[in-house]
Amino acid sequence: MAAEAEGLRLPKGFDLIAEDPELGPRILQGLSDVEDRLSEALRYTDALADVAARHLMEAGGKRVRPLLTLLAAEISGGINASVIDAAVVTELTHLATLYHDDVMDDATKRRGTDAAHTIWGNSVAILTGDLIFSRASLMVSELGSRALMTQAKTFERLVLGQLYETAGAAADEDQLAHYIKVIEGKTGSLISAACEYGSHLAGAEEATIQTMVRYGELVGVAFQLADDVIDITATHQASGKTPGTDLREGVPTLPSILVRQSARDGDEEARRVVELMDRDLSSDQALTEAVEALSAHRVTRMAWDIAYRWADDAVETLAPLPNSTVKSALASFAQAVVHRES
Ligand code: IPE
Ligand code: IPE
Ligand code: MG
Ligand code: MG
Repeated sequence: MAAEAEGLRLPKGFDLIAEDPELGPRILQGLSDVEDRLSEALRYTDALADVAARHLMEAGGKRVRPLLTLLAAEISGGINASVIDAAVVTELTHLATLYHDDVMDDATKRRGTDAAHTIWGNSVAILTGDLIFSRASLMVSELGSRALMTQAKTFERLVLGQLYETAGAAADEDQLAHYIKVIEGKTGSLISAACEYGSHLAGAEEATIQTMVRYGELVGVAFQLADDVIDITATHQASGKTPGTDLREGVPTLPSILVRQSARDGDEEARRVVELMDRDLSSDQALTEAVEALSAHRVTRMAWDIAYRWADDAVETLAPLPNSTVKSALASFAQAVVHRES
């Protein structure tokens, strides 16, 4: 596979883009440049800062946000040095949130390796996330005032999304509406920004930038919906994370919201699943039973269908763009987001 030849392994579905004979070489070169810049960006003279900051970057990851920045650029003037830097900014920002998120979710595995807080403790993990955010800010400061504004607004939305999740829905708030608000913030914001950066820094017209912003937002929600189903359907080997982390931490996700709704509506099977979910899930056996019961219930199928609809809506937003290989690649990207296993 071409992506492997470059030492880059994009997950199934996404590598079809890298293998496109027209677009592929430019995207692969761009991703390779992103890797080099990313590695340069995360060097610290302090030994602890250096090892902790490089830990998750070196562990892998899909690099979907940089890939989107590159694709968004290809719709307009093409990849340039600023686009590469912006792609690095999106990955740095994402990376930093992973350090914080694993502390908040008490998650022990990330990208197939140990979460940073399990090695260095919560304080170092949080500070490392902050260090990485700082490097992202430094890099974005070279990209002009619009990029700076995009970064600041994105960061605020992302943090608010995490805050809404932490606080939970208000008593009179619809659970599903609250959940969508959470994922638009914590995930939609940055994936949308990845598109905005690529489009803007490649010199796109404002109408095109706005199309890409909307597409990114919808892809981002679809991506997180899929992630939440993957949390209960994938193995650790496939996802690099511990299955059922959301259930164990009591984080409401689409399948769990839907199954509770079905239980309230009188579905006996759903009631049994909810009982398993509401037990103490600290033992691996209890967690596995809850995960298996939820993933076998029809709500999991419904959750996938909802994710597919968000991906279809993302593809529809591309309609104003003239037909091109890149447009098709963006459409296939939206579909790959909801047809992935990790
Ligand atoms: C994980 O993101 C966190 C979410 C927003 C779902 P990714 O699934 O992109 O994680 P990596 O970068 O591939 O590890
Ligand atoms: C991740 O959300 C969102 C951010 C890191 C901002 P999750 O907590 O749902 O993602 P995973 O499952 O740990 O990757
Ligand atoms: Mg998490
Ligand atoms: Mg989380």
